[in-house]
Amino acid sequence: MEIIIKRDAEEASLEAAAIFRRQLREKPESVLGLATGSTPLRFYELLAAMGRAGELDASRAVTFNLDEYVGLSAAHPQSYAAYMRAHLLDHLPVARWHIPDGQTADIPRHCAEYEAAIRAAGGIDIQLLGLGSDGHIGFNEPGSSLGSRTRLKTLTARTVADNAPHFASPAEVPRHVITMGVGTILEARRCVVLAFGKQKAHAVAAMAEGPVTAMVPASALQMHPACALIVDEAAAGDLQRRDYYRWVYENKPAWQRP
Ligand code: F6R
Repeated sequence: MEIIIKRDAEEASLEAAAIFRRQLREKPESVLGLATGSTPLRFYELLAAMGRAGELDASRAVTFNLDEYVGLSAAHPQSYAAYMRAHLLDHLPVARWHIPDGQTADIPRHCAEYEAAIRAAGGIDIQLLGLGSDGHIGFNEPGSSLGSRTRLKTLTARTVADNAPHFASPAEVPRHVITMGVGTILEARRCVVLAFGKQKAHAVAAMAEGPVTAMVPASALQMHPACALIVDEAAAGDLQRRDYYRWVYENKPAWQRP
């Protein structure tokens, strides 16, 4: 895993946006895996700005989001479909986008179709991920199978509490989600994980330097051949080998830089 420590969330978001810009320049028809939440908001603003400036063209790209709340319609303001429209899709046209349908009548079937659609698109070229404070990726909470596929998951009380500020009250946060599995995520050709703030420091260290365990689903990314973890100083706070990661980044060959 490549660990990139940036001064702040702005610098980290710029690094991630540059990686996606390079990906789209090299392969305009890329299949992008996308995340929601607070962490990638600035990243999406930067992508949209790059699009407006003519630095990036996503018009041939296809996107797949990681997850959606069960029970919320795509029109619900707190749905991840609404989030994606507001923060990216209304500003950066893509060829096709996919988000799990939180109101599907047949969840197992919809999940199998979502997996089939990813395969039919050629697989995900690059997957953006946020990191839950409990070590989740997508909504694969601790204990999730590291081989899991897209399916229904029940959120932990902690994730409900973490997401409550986006809703009128904690009681309104759905308890269930449809999420890509850890196994689905691991099949992406490349992964980019963003984590900011000291509330993520423990999860960052467990993900990158702890054992690979279902208790920290993000730790499965240690098995991924091309995963970059981009953090700010605060989120890097618990990493044992911070100095080494900085050294590696300072000495990174020019051809590897975005
Ligand atoms: C969102 C997702 C989640 C979030 C994670 C961090 O699509 O899959 O794993 O990335 O919960 O959320 P924030 O960024 O709000 O801290």
